Amino acid sequence: MSFEHKFRVGILTASDKGAAGEREDLSGTAIRDIITEWGYMVASYSILPDEVEELEQEMKRLADEDICDLILTTGGTGFSVRDVTPEATLAVSERLVPGIPEAIRAYSMTITKRAMLSRGTAGIRKQALIVNLPGSPKAVKESLTYIMSELEHGLMILKGMTGECARKE
Ligand code: MTE
Repeated sequence: MSFEHKFRVGILTASDKGAAGEREDLSGTAIRDIITEWGYMVASYSILPDEVEELEQEMKRLADEDICDLILTTGGTGFSVRDVTPEATLAVSERLVPGIPEAIRAYSMTITKRAMLSRGTAGIRKQALIVNLPGSPKAVKESLTYIMSELEHGLMILKGMTGECARKE
């Protein structure tokens, strides 16, 4: 891990329109802004169509080639037939992390009850944590901002940088 950055992040936008160049990826940009604010670096950025095999392949590449510590996806967590990001995440995860999507939905529900419609999930593959975020820039900002501090603690444990969970608060 490079010392000038805490962690390396792979941004993965799942969007047919985005991949076709028909829509500007404001959600990927929102992720980049938040993680750089936290001192993390963007180690990879890709926009893929809502194709489960392609999404799985990219998540495996990022995790197995040790390109990043954290893979943040945006989009494709809803009910439409093309929404398959959670399925790709489940397929590649070795261990599930149910607490993060639970926390995202719980907090998001205080903003919009439609948060219950996000099927987002999270898991660990090798030494990388994969977290699904919903597709809108608004949802990304709300969700990611809410989990960042706990993500950091989890990443430190995942990378063997701390075992300490006891905290004053
Ligand atoms: N979460 C937050 N924090 N804010 C939001 O506006 N939108 C919801 C939900 N989660 C939303 C949210 C809506 S309307 C949908 S359809 C689901 O995310 C799935 O969105 P996706 O298919 O773009 O992933």
